[in-house]
Amino acid sequence: MRLPMLSLLVFMAVLPCMSGCSREAARQDVAAPPSAADRKAAAMHSQSLHDEHSYAEPGKVRITDTALDLAIDFDRKQLSGTATHTLQWLDPAATQLLLDTRDLTIAKVEGATGQGQWEPLQFALGDKDPILGAKLDIQMPRRNQAVRITYTTSPDASGLQWLAPSMTQGKQQPLMFSQSEAIHARSWVPLQDTPAVRFTYRAHVTSPATAMVLMSADNDPHAARDGDYSFTMPQAIPSYLLAIAAGDLVFEPISARSGVWAEPAMVHRAATEFADTEKMMQVTESLYGPYRWGRYDILVLPPSFPFGGMENPRLTFATPTVIVGDKSLVSLVAHELAHSWSGNLVTNASWKNIWLNEGFTTYVQGRITEALYGNELAEMERQIDQEELAREIASGEIAPADQVLALPPLTGRDPDDALSDIAYTKGAWFLRFLEQRFGRAAFDPFLRGWFDSHAFRSATTDEFVDYLRQHLLATNPNQVTAGELDAWLHQPGIPAFAERARSRNFGIVDAARIAWGAEGKLPPAAITGAWSTQEWTHFLDGMTPTLASDQMSALDNAYHFTGTANAEIAQRWYPLAVRSGYHAADVAMADFMQRVGRRKLIMPIYEALAKTPEGLQFADDVFAKARAGYHPITTASVAATLAKARNPGTPPTP
Ligand code: BES
Ligand code: ZN
Repeated sequence: MRLPMLSLLVFMAVLPCMSGCSREAARQDVAAPPSAADRKAAAMHSQSLHDEHSYAEPGKVRITDTALDLAIDFDRKQLSGTATHTLQWLDPAATQLLLDTRDLTIAKVEGATGQGQWEPLQFALGDKDPILGAKLDIQMPRRNQAVRITYTTSPDASGLQWLAPSMTQGKQQPLMFSQSEAIHARSWVPLQDTPAVRFTYRAHVTSPATAMVLMSADNDPHAARDGDYSFTMPQAIPSYLLAIAAGDLVFEPISARSGVWAEPAMVHRAATEFADTEKMMQVTESLYGPYRWGRYDILVLPPSFPFGGMENPRLTFATPTVIVGDKSLVSLVAHELAHSWSGNLVTNASWKNIWLNEGFTTYVQGRITEALYGNELAEMERQIDQEELAREIASGEIAPADQVLALPPLTGRDPDDALSDIAYTKGAWFLRFLEQRFGRAAFDPFLRGWFDSHAFRSATTDEFVDYLRQHLLATNPNQVTAGELDAWLHQPGIPAFAERARSRNFGIVDAARIAWGAEGKLPPAAITGAWSTQEWTHFLDGMTPTLASDQMSALDNAYHFTGTANAEIAQRWYPLAVRSGYHAADVAMADFMQRVGRRKLIMPIYEALAKTPEGLQFADDVFAKARAGYHPITTASVAATLAKARNPGTPPTP
C-alpha cells in the first residue's frame, strides 16, 4: 500500500523527533490539508505503528531516561530494587502511565514532587496475559516528571537465567544473564516494553563481591571487582536492548575499543577466535559510517545461552558454540556487530517489522564477511541460508501468511514464535536483489543514507518503502517493477526472479556426495581435509532425509560426526541419526542436548525425536534431565514441541 505525505506527519506526531529529525520529515509540516483518502491511509499507517505487544501508550507519555538501582541475589534468583523513569508528557489530558510487567512483585510506586521529594501513587497490577504479562496502571493526576517503582523479579523471570556454579565452566561461582528481546525486558524491569520508545539509562547494581557485573552500557575493562557497579548508557536505546550479566567474568582486549569478556578458562580462546573484530568494525564503518557506540565488546556466555548472539549495545552476548578454533563461525560477530547500525541505530518500530532489523543485519553481515574473508565464504553462507529457507517453505513449517516481509499485526501471537527465517533470509535476499539491480555505487550510499537519516529512531516497513521509492527507485527509474517490489514485500515464498546463491566450493561437495550415493565411495581425506564448517554443513544438508544404517556407520567411521565438537555439524548430524534410526549416536546426542541450550541447535533434534513414540520417550527423558540447565526461552520451546507431539491439534500451552 502506498502512503501519502500525511503519513509522515502522523509519524512525527506519534514519534516526536529525537535529535536526528530528517530534513524531509520537517518539510512535511507544510503539507496540504488531508483528503478523506489521506485520512484513511493515515489511520491505517498509525495502526501499523501501533505495537500490539505492549500495554504502553507512548503517544501520551513516554519514558526518556531510566535509572536502575538493583541488587542481585543469586540465592533467591532475584533482582530487587527500584526503576526510576523520567517522563515526557505528550498528551495534555493524560494522567495515567501504563507499563509492561511480567511476573514482577511491585512493592510501591512513587512520583517525584521536586527537590528530591516523592509522593505515593495509586497503582493496579492487571491479570497476567500469557503473552503480554500484566499491565501496571499508575495514576498520576499531577503528571509527575519522574516515577519510581520498587519491585522484585520472580525466580522464573522469562528474561533472566540463573546458573548454579555447576552449570558454569569454572564450577565455582554462579552466573546470571538477561535476554530481553523480544518482550522479556518487562520480566526484569517495569517499563514501556516497545521498540518504539527509546531511553537513556543509568544503573547502580550490587552483587556478591566475587561477581563481575556487566551491562549493555559503558563497561570499564579495568573496573574493580567489588560488588558495587555503576553504568551509564548515554545513547537512547529501546527496551529490548537493556541487558545485564554477572558472574566470574574477566576481560581480554582485542583492540583499543574492543575485547572479550568470559569466564577465565574461555577468555583467551574467545579473544583469539574473535581477533578480527576490530577489522570488522573498520569495514562496516567504511560502508555505513562511524560506529556510534564507543566500545564494542563481546561477552561469551556458557553454552546454555539460548541464542547464537544478541546485539546488546556495546556488549554483544554470544554463545560459546561458535568458538571452534578455526574462526569458521565468526560471521556471528559480523552479524551482531552489524546490528550496531541495523537495529540498534535504526530499530523496528514493532515486532511485525523485524525484517528491518534482522534482514538488513544479515545483508550487512554478508558484506562484512565478503570484505574480510572473500566472496566465496559469503556466498557459501548465503547458499546455506537460502536452501534452508527453501526447505522450511517447502515443508510447510512457515505458513504462507508468514512468508511475507510486510507482516500484518501479530496480535495474539508471541513475537518469539512469529519470527522466522523469512525476516533474516528473504529480507537479506531482497536487499541483495536491490544491490544487484542498482549496483553498489548507488545501493551502498542509499543504505548508508537510510541508517543516517533514521539514526536513533524506530521505523516501519512502510517508512522504508517510502524511503526506497524516493531515494533509489525515483532516482534510478525503470530498474525494478511494481510487481517485483510487491513479490518481495507482500507475496509468500521467494520470487522466481530472485538470483540464487551458487558457491563454487559447494559444487565439489555436491559432486562428492553424489559420487558416494552412486558408487559408495566416500570423498577421500585429500579432499575433505580442506573442507570448512560451511562445506561440511552443505555436505550434510544435501543428504536424503534418511540414510541406511550401513551408510550412517560409514560416514561416522570416516568423519567422526558423533561427538563432534562443531555444533553446526552436530545440529545436522543428530537429527539425521534420529530419522535414520542410527542409535550409535544416542549417548553423544543426549550429552549434546544437555550441554547446549541454544535453541537453533537443539530444536531440530527434539523435533526429529518427537515424530515417533520411541523418540518422544527419549526426548522426554533427556528434557527431564536437561531442563534445569536450559534458559526459560529454550524450556518453553522444547515443552511446546513435546506437548504438541503428544496432543496434536491442541495449541501448545504457553
Ligand atoms: N537479535 C537476534 C536474536 C533474537 C532475535 C533474539 C529475536 C530474540 C528475538 C540476533 O541478532 C540473532 O539474529 N542471532 C542469531 C545469530 C545470527 C548469526 C543469525 C542466532 O542467535 O542464531
Ligand atoms: Zn540478528
